[in-house]
Amino acid sequence: MPDTPALHSRILGTGAYAPERVLTNFDLEKMVDTSDAWIRERTGIRERRIASPEEATSDMAHVAARRALEMAGLTPADLDMIIVGTVSPDLPMPACAAFLQRKLGVTDIPAFDVSAACAGFLYALSIGDQFIRSGQHRHVLVVGAELLSRMLDWEDRTTCVLFGDGAGAAVLGRGVGEGGRVLSTRLYTDSSLADSLCIRAGGSRERITPEALDAKRDKVFMNGRDIFKIAVRNLTSASASALEDARLSSAEVRWVVPHQANLRIIAQVAQRLEIPLERFVLNIERFGNTSSASIPIALDEAVRDGRIRPGDTVLMCALGGGVSWASALVRM
Ligand code: ACO
Repeated sequence: MPDTPALHSRILGTGAYAPERVLTNFDLEKMVDTSDAWIRERTGIRERRIASPEEATSDMAHVAARRALEMAGLTPADLDMIIVGTVSPDLPMPACAAFLQRKLGVTDIPAFDVSAACAGFLYALSIGDQFIRSGQHRHVLVVGAELLSRMLDWEDRTTCVLFGDGAGAAVLGRGVGEGGRVLSTRLYTDSSLADSLCIRAGGSRERITPEALDAKRDKVFMNGRDIFKIAVRNLTSASASALEDARLSSAEVRWVVPHQANLRIIAQVAQRLEIPLERFVLNIERFGNTSSASIPIALDEAVRDGRIRPGDTVLMCALGGGVSWASALVRM
């Protein structure tokens, strides 16, 4: 009996969406005790997008998903599964992915969310990859979508200047022959810093009470210094592991699409991986940290403007609340 060739998945299309409203550092100077110079120096961010009051996370995910399907030459009816990485779903229940499914006009396929904060898109990508490689599914829609602006304390300068809203998507399908493929994915969580980046009230541990609202315990809390250190270390090691899995050297990586949390984190990771910053896809300046949406938005930009070409090896890495982090190596 001849061996059945191993199945693998590939990215067939990408799409992204960012809300129209731009909030600049100068706008923030009027809201909190901060400055454009501080924000740019410490983070690399100049402006971010903020969703309109009518928009929910699934609305943004929907536009990104339609654009990815269009690039893939597929329709929603071709999908076998929808996975959304998000920590800011439309409602606590049901999943954002369920609303996305409804907007795409399909039914009876699994649609679920993955909660891995900024690593959510890579978690979704890795899960989708497993379903395609196992032969169970042909097309999986993976999305990163966040509307964090509604979960921020707009009086807390240590968090409100960092984040933005947006969504990005990719359609995974079966890879053919030697063409593009997901080469490796790595997922990790270390809960020792779980309390350093979290939303303290609103879950089963702490209900939202008037006191919790007064203390802004329903908003994003972050000890930035703790997260910064672990981000540099873990993003570097996860990236090195993905390269090791695929038996590739960092010199063979054409592009790195990192999570856009802080330009200084990215620069330190670049230095440790010995990959010049010029080979990193960067858009933090214009979008800030869009959590799980940041990698697919940057990926889509670089695919559409021709920087990322078929055959290019692309390394992606992200870290966020949990602390959860991940890496993926993809041949486009
Ligand atoms: N404007 C002006 N000053 C500020 C601001 C601001 N917006 N924010 C903080 N400061 C002040 C602080 O109060 C502090 O003042 P002090 O020295 O008088 O106490 C000073 O600036 C330095 O503060 P640090 O926190 O040490 O600043 P740092 O250089 O670490 O930058 C930052 C802070 C940008 C948050 C950085 O730590 C960081 O990027 N951390 C990692 C973020 C991250 O990767 N998160 C994970 C993804 S998010 C997710 O999963 C949802």
